[in-house]
Amino acid sequence: MNVKEIRHPLIRHKLGLMRRSDISTKNFRELAQEVAALLTYEATQDMAVETHTIQGWCGDVDVEKLSGKKVTVVPILRAGLGMLDGVLSLVPSAKVSVIGLARNEETLEADTYLEKLVGELNQRMALIIDPMLATGGSMVATIDMLKKAGARDIRALVLVAAPEGIQRVNDAHPDVQIYTASVDQRLNEHGYIIPGLGDAGDKIFGTK
Ligand code: URA
Repeated sequence: MNVKEIRHPLIRHKLGLMRRSDISTKNFRELAQEVAALLTYEATQDMAVETHTIQGWCGDVDVEKLSGKKVTVVPILRAGLGMLDGVLSLVPSAKVSVIGLARNEETLEADTYLEKLVGELNQRMALIIDPMLATGGSMVATIDMLKKAGARDIRALVLVAAPEGIQRVNDAHPDVQIYTASVDQRLNEHGYIIPGLGDAGDKIFGTK
């Protein structure tokens, strides 16, 4: 299974705070960005670097820098925006590709209403961000779009994942690694993750 549950003490602590029913919008929002940054650190461990020589304080020194095209971060609207600043805090020059999906109440599948992708996706690492990997429908649809546009190195960053969503992504796209702060128990009959975080979009935007 291509899922990495990042069990860092800071992530476990922050996620524990996020699960409180009385959490404020401000705190939930801040913690979502912080956990996103920590997941980004893990998901980018194998980024390519190259050595070059610079003028240092005591003469020439060999240093490393990231090589290749800039990363693209891919928030799935709307909740994915709640992780964007956290990712950009570590990868500030990343390009942002935005995907908007809405659930079609007849087919129960994801309909695309926005697909604004950056160019040269075949040369970039793509980091999809969405707080909740529930059924996996939106994630699979987003990966389908990215691959169609040429992306080859795709990773998914989610705060909480349900086993059902992990399975669906794995079946459709076994090459895509999922990074998560927690693999939770299951989905309930309404498609919410148990114990989960509730409606992450509402908590990030203060709606409902
Ligand atoms: N989306 C959410 O915001 N929460 C869930 O538990 C599942 C999907």
